[in-house]
Amino acid sequence: MPNVTFADVGVTLAVPAGTLLIEAAERAGANLVCGCREGECGSCLVEIVSGAEHLSETSILEDQVLKDLSAPWEQRLACQTRVLGDAVVVRPA
Ligand code: FES
Repeated sequence: MPNVTFADVGVTLAVPAGTLLIEAAERAGANLVCGCREGECGSCLVEIVSGAEHLSETSILEDQVLKDLSAPWEQRLACQTRVLGDAVVVRPA
């Protein structure tokens, strides 16, 4: 199973491939704000420190929300982003 590290709390955990970052964050006890869980509010913005290539592609909806938030390229919505491979490191944006 892929490992995900939440840098803000210093916790690394193994999750099944396809797990949403928001679900992993909740298991890790990371300090991640979460609102709608539907990719609309932008409250779950996270910075991908490393391992972006091991995450799901952005959807049209996520792309639009990230654009509306003027989010830099290394930020994703945790409620829309799935972990597909190993060694992903994130922290709240
Ligand atoms: S919780 Fe609203 S966009 Fe992720």
